Amino acid sequence: MSSSTNSPGRPGAVAGDPRPIGVFDSGYGGLTVARALQKRLPEESILYVGDSARCPYGPRDQAEVDGFVQQICAWLTGRDVKMIVIACNTATAAGLVHAQQAFPVPIVGVVEPGARAAAHTTLNRRVGVIATKGTVDSNAYADAIRHIDAGITVFSTATPRFVEIAEMGLKLSSGPIEDYMADTTKVYIRPEFEDIARQYLEPLRRCDIDTLVLGCTHYPLLKALIGGVVGRKVTLVSSADETARDVDHILGRRGAYAPAGSVPTHAFFTTGADVEEFRRFGGRVLARPMHVVEHVELPA
Ligand code: DGL
Repeated sequence: MSSSTNSPGRPGAVAGDPRPIGVFDSGYGGLTVARALQKRLPEESILYVGDSARCPYGPRDQAEVDGFVQQICAWLTGRDVKMIVIACNTATAAGLVHAQQAFPVPIVGVVEPGARAAAHTTLNRRVGVIATKGTVDSNAYADAIRHIDAGITVFSTATPRFVEIAEMGLKLSSGPIEDYMADTTKVYIRPEFEDIARQYLEPLRRCDIDTLVLGCTHYPLLKALIGGVVGRKVTLVSSADETARDVDHILGRRGAYAPAGSVPTHAFFTTGADVEEFRRFGGRVLARPMHVVEHVELPA
């Protein structure tokens, strides 16, 4: 006979933990993951850090990004988060293992969930990965995908300008962000963005891939652009939903869901100087207003 009592929280939970989940990225990209978390776990509080002052992470060397990960995880654990989501592929590749070794809370990244989504999606076992230079150079995706299915051939390409295009597109575009995150393109996309996308993606198209991993959390913001170039036969996968599922399982197994009926707090911090800009454009990615947004100086 089981001795666990039914929790007041989600089904199966044995105790409640009202503390927030820490989430971070170099900027707006990780908000695509925060959005999936809010959707899947609406009672959970979130403490988000966007390290906009040091964005982009992609061209930096691994040791430097690893240092940023340590710094942000230290700040988040100092704010008593119950777990941390590194909602940035570049930071996951550079610093996940070190962070897991250094901090006492569960820490998940986005590479493994994205790799899992890809391995479970591909039918012809030919998978493309687009990501920042840092993520591609680390080989993290190829390793993670082949760890799940060693028979999959992975074709990786660094598409560094997509981070800048995503951030620029977010600021220049009008209309619902959903249009930009749709699978096919119904929105007007600047011709120069399309030229850049073609240059990056044509070689991958020739590799006969049936699945393309958006291996940077900024890239779901360019789904319409990328989907328009690679065509309908290629399925685009990203980490957000799969990562939210992992977080759900971890909290469930640890009995750490927020108590039932919790009113969650969602607080956002940016290292960037312009808090109002972060609020305005971040709210577009989240598809809901950001009420609490503050500037943060991270201690060295
Ligand atoms: N969003 C980050 C990622 O998932 C990268 C953006 C950057 O280069 O800072 O890799």
